[in-house]
Amino acid sequence: MKNTDLISIHDLEIDEILEILNLAEIMKANPDRYTDALAGKTLAMIFEKPSLRTRVTFEVGMTQMGGHAIYLASSDAQIGKRESIPDVARNLERWTDAIMARTFSHQTIVDLAAYAGIPVINGLSDLFHPCQALADFFTIRDIKGDLKGLKVVFVGDGNNVAHSLMHCAAKVGANITIVTPPGYEPREEVAREAREDAKKTGVEIHVTNDIREGLKKADVVYTDVWASMGQEAEREERIRKFRDYQVNSTVMDMASKSAIFMHCLPAHRGEEVTDDVADAQYSVIFQQAENRLHVQKAIMNLLMGEESFI
Ligand code: CP
Ligand code: NVA
Repeated sequence: MKNTDLISIHDLEIDEILEILNLAEIMKANPDRYTDALAGKTLAMIFEKPSLRTRVTFEVGMTQMGGHAIYLASSDAQIGKRESIPDVARNLERWTDAIMARTFSHQTIVDLAAYAGIPVINGLSDLFHPCQALADFFTIRDIKGDLKGLKVVFVGDGNNVAHSLMHCAAKVGANITIVTPPGYEPREEVAREAREDAKKTGVEIHVTNDIREGLKKADVVYTDVWASMGQEAEREERIRKFRDYQVNSTVMDMASKSAIFMHCLPAHRGEEVTDDVADAQYSVIFQQAENRLHVQKAIMNLLMGEESFI
């Protein structure tokens, strides 16, 4: 594995993805073996947006591996405002061993990685959420046994989470369908990147506005909020436009009988998903949240520790 950062799943080779998933599986089963894996190491965590899961799992992950994480709220770093992105990067690399950043603009993460001589991990940008998608495919593999040939269907906004799921599905050999209201499709460029990889794995990357057609034979039904962080002003308009794309029990009935339900969380219950679906037996939303910890521990171990090879 040659990558020294985790910015977008599209940058990763399939072997790198499998290495992360396989190490996460080993670390999840044997956490005691890794209590010193990052002893003395420090992760700087820059947050321009709020977080529960990403902040807690990265911080707990560092603690469990003997290291330390520093939380920098947007009022602290004020990246690009109080000082330039290159200067933030060139300061942090003097003191810390890696940077995890959650930003509005994806370019901020790309720039941090360009100027910091330490690994940079994307903890969500407007374009991508790679750690989420890796944890999600880890969860799917854990439940379904294999990823090859599965059909994952994402219903809702063609957003950062949808983009990273498309990238990851194409690489690991799962079919993916993105179902959106007209005008909210994923970016064409991301679909093109995913289709390039899908040619090699022989899977289909499909985008449609037709929920019934999209959900046919779905093994996984996934949704996310209709208005992402930073889109709060569009919330009312989106609630109107996305109404027919709510994942409720009628919609789950359009998928395979054995389909599981996934959501990256936070969920706006009653909007993109109903309580009965989110709390159903087939819902794996809290397994997904737990697996963020294991997969990110593997990522940090590979980027920052002795097993470093990303
Ligand atoms: N899924 C996820 O990234 O959650 P947070 O926004 O709470 O970090
Ligand atoms: N699409 C959501 C994901 C939150 C984890 C957002 O960007 O707000």
